[in-house]
Amino acid sequence: MAPDPRPIAFFDSGVGGLPYLEAARPLLLGERFAYLADRGGFPYGTKTREQVRARVLEVVEAIRRRFDPKVLVIACNTASQAALEAVRKANPGLPVIGTVPAVKPAALRTRSGTIGVMATARAVEDPYLDELVARHAPGVRVLREAAQDLVSFVELRYPGSTEAERLAAVEGHARRLVELGADEIVLACTHFLHVAADIARAAGAGVEVVDSRDGVARRLASILAERALGAPEGSPGGGLFALTGPGPFEPGYAVFAARFGLEGPVALDLG
Ligand code: DGL
Repeated sequence: MAPDPRPIAFFDSGVGGLPYLEAARPLLLGERFAYLADRGGFPYGTKTREQVRARVLEVVEAIRRRFDPKVLVIACNTASQAALEAVRKANPGLPVIGTVPAVKPAALRTRSGTIGVMATARAVEDPYLDELVARHAPGVRVLREAAQDLVSFVELRYPGSTEAERLAAVEGHARRLVELGADEIVLACTHFLHVAADIARAAGAGVEVVDSRDGVARRLASILAERALGAPEGSPGGGLFALTGPGPFEPGYAVFAARFGLEGPVALDLG
């Protein structure tokens, strides 16, 4: 099969998927990326499962029209939990990778027998998380911490924030989990990866902060290899950051684009 020059698309309600793209990049030299932050639909974590599913299907259609990606990564736990199956069903032929909270590695590594899962208001109560816990964390106490305020902090206030502001934003959530005995904190919302170091600091020594970005990066690389979808030899790579919703864009988005080596931001119309 000939090499495939089409881009790889990453998508989240906002900037949460960027650390996933960053983790995948070193494994995917020469690939082009299209990153879509659904700013117009943000936040997902306060919506119902049905609302998230409908929105995600609409956004994925727009991504396909504009970018014609060869693979799609839903770099958002809330969207993956609500809509991964529906997206796969509606898009046969398009490989779609979802984001699964790292409950399994955390359950294997805990010494205290208690792990904490930090996620959006929607995701902490999703039946998908119940199934994941039943399957991969039997006998482990799993604390669920909804941190929707932290999603907004990362999306709207993170660029230019001081370390003290970041610590203040994460402290209450991290401390609550540690005080209840958690020695593993699962970042089950992609936005929280931007403040992973702050969460680790607030949690203190002896607490491990885990996420799923390496697994997603490896899965992406293996799909490209298995299906011979790699970029043509010598391709320069690169990437574009696109946003939904009416302009003007908040200045923080240009900071995120530059920080993650992407061009843009540009507007994506849902049509
Ligand atoms: N980044 C998203 C997640 O991983 C959702 C944030 C939101 O829109 O509430 O769950």
